[in-house]
Amino acid sequence: MYISNYCAILLLIVALCFGVSQKSPNGCGYDVNSEPRNDIQHACVQYILDSVIQALLKNPERRFIYVEMAFFWRWWNEQSDDVRETVKELVNDGRLEFISGGWCMNDEGITHYNSIIDQHSLGAEFLRDQFGECARPKIGWQIDPFGHSREVASLFAQMGFDGLFFGRVDYQDYQYRTMTKTMEMVWKGSANLNRESWLFTGVLPRVYEPPDSFCFDQFCNDQPVMDDSSLHDYNVPERVQAFINAAHDQARGYATNHIIMTMGSDFQYEYANVWFKNLDKLIKYVNAQQVNGSDVNVFYSTPSCYLYALNKAGLTWPSKTDDFFPIAQNPHGFWTGYFTSRAALKRYERYSNNILQATRQLNALSEINLRSSEAMGVAQHHDAVSGTEKQHVADDYAQRLSQGIDIATDVINSSYAKLLPKESGLAPPLVQFLCHYSNISECLPIEGQIRFTLTLWNPTIHPVTYYARVPAIMQYSIRDPTGSIVPSEFLPIPNITKNIPGRTSSANYQHIFKTSLPALGFNTYYFEMIHDEKIEKKKVMMTQNETCTLENEHLRIEFDDQGNLHQITNLEKGIATSFTTQGFYWYTGFPGNNSRSEFQASGAYFFRPLMPDPQPVSTMRSITCTKTETVQSALIIFNNWASQEVNLFQGSVAVEFEWTIGPIPIDDYIGKEIVVRYDTDIQSKSTYYTDANGREVLERKVDYRPTWNYTVNENISGNYYPISSRIWIKDEQRQLTVLTDRSEGGGSIHDGSIEIMVHRRLLYDDNEGVGEPLNETAFGTGLVVRGKHFLILEPPENSALIHRVGAQQLFMNPIATYALPQNSYADYESLYRQTWSALSDSMPLNVHLLTFDQLGPKQFLIRIEHYFELNEDEIYSQSVQIDLQDLFKSLGTITDLIELTLGANLPLSQLHRLDWMTNNNESSHVETTQQTHLKDTMVMLNPMQIKTFQVTL
Ligand SMILES: *[C@@H]1O[C@H](CO)[C@@H](O)[C@H](O)[C@H]1NC(C)=O
Ligand SMILES: *[C@@H]1O[C@H](CO)[C@@H](O)[C@H](O)[C@H]1NC(C)=O
Ligand SMILES: *[C@@H]1O[C@H](CO)[C@@H](O)[C@H](O)[C@H]1NC(C)=O
Ligand SMILES: *[C@@H]1O[C@H](CO)[C@@H](O)[C@H](O)[C@H]1NC(C)=O
Ligand SMILES: *[C@@H]1O[C@H](CO)[C@@H](O)[C@H](O)[C@H]1NC(C)=O
Repeated sequence: MYISNYCAILLLIVALCFGVSQKSPNGCGYDVNSEPRNDIQHACVQYILDSVIQALLKNPERRFIYVEMAFFWRWWNEQSDDVRETVKELVNDGRLEFISGGWCMNDEGITHYNSIIDQHSLGAEFLRDQFGECARPKIGWQIDPFGHSREVASLFAQMGFDGLFFGRVDYQDYQYRTMTKTMEMVWKGSANLNRESWLFTGVLPRVYEPPDSFCFDQFCNDQPVMDDSSLHDYNVPERVQAFINAAHDQARGYATNHIIMTMGSDFQYEYANVWFKNLDKLIKYVNAQQVNGSDVNVFYSTPSCYLYALNKAGLTWPSKTDDFFPIAQNPHGFWTGYFTSRAALKRYERYSNNILQATRQLNALSEINLRSSEAMGVAQHHDAVSGTEKQHVADDYAQRLSQGIDIATDVINSSYAKLLPKESGLAPPLVQFLCHYSNISECLPIEGQIRFTLTLWNPTIHPVTYYARVPAIMQYSIRDPTGSIVPSEFLPIPNITKNIPGRTSSANYQHIFKTSLPALGFNTYYFEMIHDEKIEKKKVMMTQNETCTLENEHLRIEFDDQGNLHQITNLEKGIATSFTTQGFYWYTGFPGNNSRSEFQASGAYFFRPLMPDPQPVSTMRSITCTKTETVQSALIIFNNWASQEVNLFQGSVAVEFEWTIGPIPIDDYIGKEIVVRYDTDIQSKSTYYTDANGREVLERKVDYRPTWNYTVNENISGNYYPISSRIWIKDEQRQLTVLTDRSEGGGSIHDGSIEIMVHRRLLYDDNEGVGEPLNETAFGTGLVVRGKHFLILEPPENSALIHRVGAQQLFMNPIATYALPQNSYADYESLYRQTWSALSDSMPLNVHLLTFDQLGPKQFLIRIEHYFELNEDEIYSQSVQIDLQDLFKSLGTITDLIELTLGANLPLSQLHRLDWMTNNNESSHVETTQQTHLKDTMVMLNPMQIKTFQVTL
């Protein structure tokens, strides 16, 4: 299972279609009738490809599918021209087919849509450039992920896929679907978009395994087909009968007389001939039974061939509007632990994407054209950080991300070398560097410097207010781009931060100040150390273990002298919610040997608490409140491994809860899963809402599944959903929304409560492939993780504006780079620009610039997005129009504009997807856009719509 969630593995599959065989002309696409598929492999992918290519050449009927481009790309780069030509022929003949074609098979629960789109685009671009239209993937192949997201279906549909197949569903759902022959359906991928988001979807019969006893890989122990009748081990009749039985068994769960069998599995096909030789024989002897009345016709096939057969079957199909989360493997094995596993890596992935997107913008806006799929490819490698790999693999992953960020830093430097100097040639380039440990108030290169600059790049197309925190040993004066001294706080760094293992900084203080950043642009702040006598003492109020109220113009947050959060009031809207409790609890991870469902352990994949009631991490807490003009905060320490700092910034409409957890103690030999609870008086009626991949939000109900009669075996874990960006509960007057800075798992187990798991440390493996307990350490002790939640209390009708904008700013945070100029401020000011924006006009607030990248000289790729849902907000849920030319103000005039599919590998006017009918006689047909080259740069966006363009200047 750890396979597909990590790009280091590739999936190949050999699929067999059953049914009436049609004679097929050669050629790729839907006319080809036989199909292979592939299965999985990792370390030896290169040998698999070598061996599969040879095997395919031996028999033109053989088929093979290939899924993950990261590996194919590596292999391809090492091949001779001859081999490449051969492979191209196989692709053009439809004998080797690319399926999905992303850089990797992305996880669906914890991934962010921005990264899913990017990693698919990267693979699609490679395939288009090397192989052309024949290699354009038309099928989504998600055979391994641990649950399936409606948003992914919607994105895949918009990439132009005709269908999606996957392996894992809840075991109860599986039973119900096989019983009712509803394993295949039309999935309506979006509650906002139209039929362009619908995707035909099929659940595979055996995840991705072949029928029992038909694994023919060198590593399998099943009997090969022995067809020399002179030998005593001749077994054709038994093998043929067993296969025909398996086909009939499988057919019972499916609606048509076509079935798909996946012939392959993890790490197979290294000696492809073993598989293919046996399949050749099996096909021959099974089909020979037709003369004796057998109704089974078997041939090599691919998922697209199978899909095409279903499409031509002329049936109507059930539809689905919810998703496949969470899923259980068995009554006590819910795939809900991985929503939180490796919390630090999950944040690192989101942070890397933030840097990647900003880097692309800078690259494009400075027209340095440094786009290289290698540089970006490395940074993309993280798209599936499920946290379910061995420690050394997770380390490798983090290292790749770090290398990607290093490359990005070079691009950022080249861009700023063009954007910063007022006149090129005069100003010496300034090395800009990132400080990755800002979250623990550490930035060693600026420590003790007399002067330095902080440049903040705002990657959104709207002006933002951002509170900067800069660690310092001494006090500095800070100048904004106009040269004015910025009012700034100079506050001690709390001991809990200073004590975080691995922190080596000697900075005991931090500057906190407000910045107002221009849209798609930067501001530079110039820091200069102040001499003691000039230090102005600002008012700071501090209390310990006293009642304390944090308040700004929007919100009031009240704590008692024991550090309990009592109430949050929205002063403007005149609503309040009281809290019965708020704080950290832990579940005991179930210690089990996995021999039966009852003994299922909690592990990297599964969350299974031993008892339904979590323990509070402490009975007492200390509270320290600090109030300044800029920020008011309450630091609440629960024990020596759990604390939170609640921050309310001036002007802010959300409260920041920065939690710090770890090292989670295990000296009592108990694995612990730490949750934060926000328990309120909101009457949520067993209903809560969680987002899918950072976009649309789905309604959830306690102990309920929309499409089958759900039998509850796990009261907690069965109610956990992925929270990629937000969760909320509400009643008539009030909605409490929590935004997260990374993917986490959680739900509303009790009315009025939001529970989010933030960190886990476990002592048992859950037997799904990791093979070691999730027991993360760093600096010789358990890993400490820090993260943020933002709480928003608003009337339901006012909530969307704040959580939509808030979540957008959270994943597209300003990118802070520092530099060490030698110049006095006057010199600096004369040489360098301190503020700049790519835009002249303000953009509508409901539009997000999702992608801004340079494709080549004067050629750009952009994606713009309406990021509100229908009926969420009176104003911003309306359709919106923008002029693309406005985005290119600083670059030139648009001379050509082509709208592309979401994956950017095909003009939208050339997309023709297969049409399907639902049981309610709704057709999935979408009218194809006629025009390829658009005349008008004005673009209309409907709620949740993303449009992709190739722009030439
Ligand atoms: C068909 O059945 C007949 C009679 O049982 C048998 O002799 C023959 O071998 C069978 N053919 C095949 C291809 O199995
Ligand atoms: C922080 O730690 C220092 C050094 O151990 C100690 O002197 C100080 O009292 C601590 N401060 C607080 C607020 O606990
Ligand atoms: C605050 O309360 C906590 C918990 O009761 C206690 O451990 C701590 O010493 C108190 N601190 C002060 C400064 O009173
Ligand atoms: C669930 O159970 C109820 C009552 O037994 C029944 O009416 C309903 O059809 C069932 N629904 C499904 C989807 O099986
Ligand atoms: C967890 O990690 C700690 C620190 O490396 C180690 O001492 C302990 O044995 C590990 N426990 C398990 C069950 O892996």
